[in-house]
Amino acid sequence: MSDNLDDFEELLMGEARRNYSAKAIDHAMNPRNLGAMENADVYASITGPCGDTIEIWLKIDDNIISRATYITDGCGTSIASGSMVTELAKGKNIREALAIGQQDVLDALDGLPEESRHCALLASNTLKAAVREYIDIKKEPWKKTYRKQK
Ligand code: FES
Repeated sequence: MSDNLDDFEELLMGEARRNYSAKAIDHAMNPRNLGAMENADVYASITGPCGDTIEIWLKIDDNIISRATYITDGCGTSIASGSMVTELAKGKNIREALAIGQQDVLDALDGLPEESRHCALLASNTLKAAVREYIDIKKEPWKKTYRKQK
């Protein structure tokens, strides 16, 4: 039985290696920054057309993202994309973080198959939404009281 399972796992990994870069597989299997954040400054959640959701929390000090975490109920590629976009965001100022787009996530993951590229877009859009939330709250701090932090 365990031999069969090992064979099956090997088959799946072989399939994954044919379609995904080593970096994408690594971020899907060993996601960085996974989990909700307590005391985050901002939070954003977006559900993509595929029905999957990515949620991102940011801690921002003096306009610099000091921590970024995420969770997703989506596919392996959304796990890899959330992991990578939070890695890219850390240490960036809010202007630089707003400029992180789908292509940056794709490049950092050494590409994704055509049918999975939208997962990188969902991750970068969620990051942008969290940063915009920060900018909004900075302009009108009273809004924070009414925002759901999850
Ligand atoms: Fe929905 Fe990947 S298929 S985020």
